[in-house]
Amino acid sequence: MGPHSAPPYTLHITWKELLFTASLLIFWNPPTAAQVMIEAQPTKVSEAKNVLLLVHNLPQNVAAYLWYKGQIMDVHHYITGYVMETEGIMFGPAYSGRETVYSNGSLLIQNVTWKDTGSYTIQIIKRGDKPKEVIGHFTLYSELPKPYITSKNFNPMENKNVVALTCEPKTQNYTYMWWVNGQSLPVSPRLKQPGENRILILANVTRNDTGPYECEIRDRFGGMRSDPVTLNVLYGPDLPSIFPSLTDYHSGQNLSLLCFADSNPPAEYTWTINGKFLQSGPRIYIPQITTNHSGLYCCSVRNSATGSERSTFNMIRVSGKWIPASLAIGF
Ligand SMILES: *[C@@H]1O[C@H](CO)[C@@H](O)[C@H](O)[C@H]1NC(C)=O
Ligand SMILES: *[C@@H]1O[C@H](CO)[C@@H](O)[C@H](O)[C@H]1NC(C)=O
Ligand SMILES: *[C@@H]1O[C@H](CO)[C@@H](O)[C@H](O)[C@H]1NC(C)=O
Ligand SMILES: *[C@@H]1O[C@H](CO)[C@@H](O)[C@H](O)[C@H]1NC(C)=O
Ligand SMILES: *[C@@H]1O[C@H](CO)[C@@H](O)[C@H](O)[C@H]1NC(C)=O
Ligand SMILES: *[C@@H]1O[C@H](CO)[C@@H](O)[C@H](O)[C@H]1NC(C)=O
Ligand SMILES: *[C@@H]1O[C@H](CO)[C@@H](O)[C@H](O)[C@H]1NC(C)=O
Repeated sequence: MGPHSAPPYTLHITWKELLFTASLLIFWNPPTAAQVMIEAQPTKVSEAKNVLLLVHNLPQNVAAYLWYKGQIMDVHHYITGYVMETEGIMFGPAYSGRETVYSNGSLLIQNVTWKDTGSYTIQIIKRGDKPKEVIGHFTLYSELPKPYITSKNFNPMENKNVVALTCEPKTQNYTYMWWVNGQSLPVSPRLKQPGENRILILANVTRNDTGPYECEIRDRFGGMRSDPVTLNVLYGPDLPSIFPSLTDYHSGQNLSLLCFADSNPPAEYTWTINGKFLQSGPRIYIPQITTNHSGLYCCSVRNSATGSERSTFNMIRVSGKWIPASLAIGF
């Protein structure tokens, strides 16, 4: 018994089967506790593939199986059924032409579409004086594709570039969500999400937009998240600061200055004194300074990625030898 290509409802239904079905729909008995187990193979379906809903733990003395789309067992939701005695197959209004019921109750759905996901009910009728029924429910989930993020530029420059992150693949019937630093995207007027959230536009990107971004595809039953991609915003260098900001020193003191400027990638540091190169690196240390170490100290920072350069100056005066007050009093 293969898939049936002829129109549903009337095909192969004998009067006996029709009356039998009618009797099932009229004479209700309280359902016994569901013992049957339904398993989908594969567990999640993807578009255009086939899925087999396997029925396990079948009761004894089965008279018929009836499959319904959804959880309501009325004639409108009736897909197909199988009558053991006659080996007859019946079709209902919910039959799409792609379902095949087997003598063991299992249901094959071919060329799955998005509409096929959702809940199913099997009604198993047992032979006896009065027909008894066993009910099994099942939800068929669709296999969501694993999304991924694309962008022309994952290394934008602060306040210069507009970044567009796109969640792929483009699909209907899915909603898209965005996550930044593991948190659902905060609502901000600067973050525009045109269309169906699939494209995230970050205008006037700032350093605060740095971080791992993830997108998620959701359907009625669940979601699938992409691997994180890092948006690495290039910025700076900011105006450097010199620590300590002290300007007056005495001969014999050790001069230790630290320069810092926030920058991504980290800035290159250069120290000059009175316009002459002193050394590279953020820190200078000159032990036992003398008066001739007075001068205009300058820390320059440069970010080769942004091409920006900034400088801070500190005028340092070194006065003559410092005599501790206690000694001076001693004279
Ligand atoms: C029921 O029959 C179908 C078709 O013969 C088979 O593929 C499936 O494995 C059977 N199910 C169980 C639970 O044995
Ligand atoms: C499933 O799709 C294939 C290819 O599109 C087609 O040949 C086949 O007839 C379809 N089967 C059913 C049961 O619709
Ligand atoms: C999306 O859902 C609509 C019904 O809501 C359906 O007609 C359409 O075929 C679905 N599209 C895809 C690609 O599954
Ligand atoms: C981006 O920044 C420029 C200059 O600071 C400003 O004129 C513009 O309105 C900003 N655009 C958005 C979308 O915030
Ligand atoms: C980044 O965030 C911090 C803290 O929220 C804020 O003080 C700072 O102004 C922001 N910087 C930019 C460039 O938006
Ligand atoms: C300068 O450094 C030297 C060696 O590190 C130390 O012995 C000396 O006490 C320091 N001088 C001052 C004034 O701190
Ligand atoms: C200061 O003078 C000393 C000699 O006393 C010399 O070695 C040193 O280079 C001078 N430093 C500066 C900054 O001119």
